Amino acid sequence: PVPTDLAGRHVVVSAGGTREPLDPVRYLGNRSSGKQGYALAVTAAARGARVTLLSANAELPDPAGVDVVHVSTALELREAALEAVKDADAVVMAAAVADFRPAEYATGKIKKVEGVEPAAVALVRNPDILAELSAHRARSGQLVVGFAAETDDVLANGRAKLARKGCDLLVVNEVGNGKAFGTDVNEAVVLGSDGSETAVPVGPKEALADVVWDLVAKRLETGGN
Ligand code: PMT
Repeated sequence: PVPTDLAGRHVVVSAGGTREPLDPVRYLGNRSSGKQGYALAVTAAARGARVTLLSANAELPDPAGVDVVHVSTALELREAALEAVKDADAVVMAAAVADFRPAEYATGKIKKVEGVEPAAVALVRNPDILAELSAHRARSGQLVVGFAAETDDVLANGRAKLARKGCDLLVVNEVGNGKAFGTDVNEAVVLGSDGSETAVPVGPKEALADVVWDLVAKRLETGGN
């Protein structure tokens, strides 16, 4: 039987990868397909939650029974997230958010000029949405879950990131060498701010999503809201 332990709950999930435009035809992006975030949205809906999915450039069909908000840049994702979390019980940031964006946007296509070396692209920092959502909870008892995409020293970096971001749970997954980005499977360790560690063996992204919701549902229950 499908658990309905998220019935009556509103959860917000981000998915996909932000795109930071350089000019009308070019952007800085990343390899996120949105599959992990969409799996989180679909499994939460199956467990009875009302789901808002903030989708950044994922080329996937809108899942049935899920409210989808389409965004493109990190700044747009931040705006949509701040709005959506107002009445949310939990938020899960599975999107790959660009840490930097081009300092300037060229309104016309950047041209190559014969004999002239290309200019360096100056970058500025994007806001850290996960850290902001963690520091300023829109509701008391709201659970904030982050993901960490790491290539080296996966667990050590994950633990440091959990402390830095201030979220309740951090899903640490290894990326690179064909792992996590764009695939149908994932494996991870879910770190809790209470020191808990839950290892999730390689399997469908929906299976990892269900472990995340198990941990969220348990915390919401004992959190008493
Ligand atoms: O989409 P798929 O192809 O299925 O791939 C899934 C995935 C690899 C993208 C996913 O499992 C994943 O790891 N998502 C997080 C990617 C990421 O941006 O990790 P990070 O370690 O750079 O960021 C840590 C956390 O902070 C993330 O929750 C991220 O959403 C958040 N963040 C990061 C930067 C920023 N400016 N604002 C943020 O909120």
